[in-house]
Amino acid sequence: MSDVAPISSARTATTETAPTSGGPRILAIESSCDETAAAVLDGTRSLLANVVHSQVSIHAEYGGVVPELASRSHVRMIDKVVQDALAQSNTSLEELAGVAVTQGPGLVGSLLVGLEYGRALAWSRNLPLLPVHHLEGHLYAPFIGRSEGSAEPGWPFVGLVVSGGHSSLYHCKAPGVYEELGRTLDDAAGEAFDKISKRLGLGYPGGATIDRLARSGDPKAFRFPRPMMHSKNYHFSFSGVKTAVGTALDKEETELTGQRLNDFAASFQAAVVDVLVAKTVDAAEEVGVERIVLTGGVASNSQLRSQLEAAASARGIALVVPPPALCTDNAAMIGAAGYARLYAAIQAGEGFESAHLNARASWPLGRRSPLQKPLERGVRRGPKS
Ligand code: KG4
Ligand code: ZN
Repeated sequence: MSDVAPISSARTATTETAPTSGGPRILAIESSCDETAAAVLDGTRSLLANVVHSQVSIHAEYGGVVPELASRSHVRMIDKVVQDALAQSNTSLEELAGVAVTQGPGLVGSLLVGLEYGRALAWSRNLPLLPVHHLEGHLYAPFIGRSEGSAEPGWPFVGLVVSGGHSSLYHCKAPGVYEELGRTLDDAAGEAFDKISKRLGLGYPGGATIDRLARSGDPKAFRFPRPMMHSKNYHFSFSGVKTAVGTALDKEETELTGQRLNDFAASFQAAVVDVLVAKTVDAAEEVGVERIVLTGGVASNSQLRSQLEAAASARGIALVVPPPALCTDNAAMIGAAGYARLYAAIQAGEGFESAHLNARASWPLGRRSPLQKPLERGVRRGPKS
């Protein structure tokens, strides 16, 4: 397997060289979707403030994120969120050594709010503006503080990022060097949870509610497909489950309630979790890593966590899961990735050019070529012999 170029080749970050705490402070800003977030860090692992303003209540009545409303809310909140992060960490602008900001991927109007705010602040203080890939941020989340009750993070690892907007598997070889092993070809896992929740009248976002109902349900009560479970690649597809679940719902003569609703939630959840778990452990075993990192909003799913933990440990692989507040969108993870990048650049004697930096709504991470065909891989099944 040939190596994929680092996302910024000359700036491959080495976490070893950056202080883990007690170093210069950086401010990080995240606004790629429906969370306006700012954080202050004084090392790759040391978080001094982490402020998140969620827009869930704004989008709930629409059953999904409305881009125009998202950007307007970011504009209203960004200054307050940044000021709160600086105040909570007792940090003055004079103390900052850089500003990290999510450059993409995400909603372009939302990204632009954080990027332009960060650019103006960095320019006014003559600070480097550190552009960060949102998914690289998610992959850095386990390195912040300690992941309680979870294995120690370390490179290399296989990272599963599962959220409302993403379902992707990465081989994370070293800081800054990622290879995409697979991604969803249609809906993201969280999107499937949210759409089914909407159909069941359980509100938005629905992942946590389905998770709660499923705890008292029988996952075998309804038989739903496991799309691409046995395909010889690490891509996912969740729109088929969504359709099958919708068809099953149409056949129900009365509204689902009580035990039947719990069984339905458990059966849907099992279909999504089975595929995520099987592909992730197969990928980790095939590339030969000792750790799996599970992150993104769907990482909070209790069944996904326990099933992945069991399947990974059966193959001698450790599972690392950041605390829930660092799994969902936040600026701390953007700061951790930005911090490592700042230090790598300082060591390489590089500067950061921010004048022409633009938001990147679509920005694949670690994909070998835009024309890349699904990777044909021999997928092994069953525990290690
Ligand atoms: O990372 P996140 O906060 O935002 C982005 O989508 O970027 O993830 C939110 C997603 C939603 O789709 C939500 O339904 C899902 O994470 N989610 C869950 C659970 N908690 C949140 N999905 C399944 N089980 C959960 N316990
Ligand atoms: Zn995210």
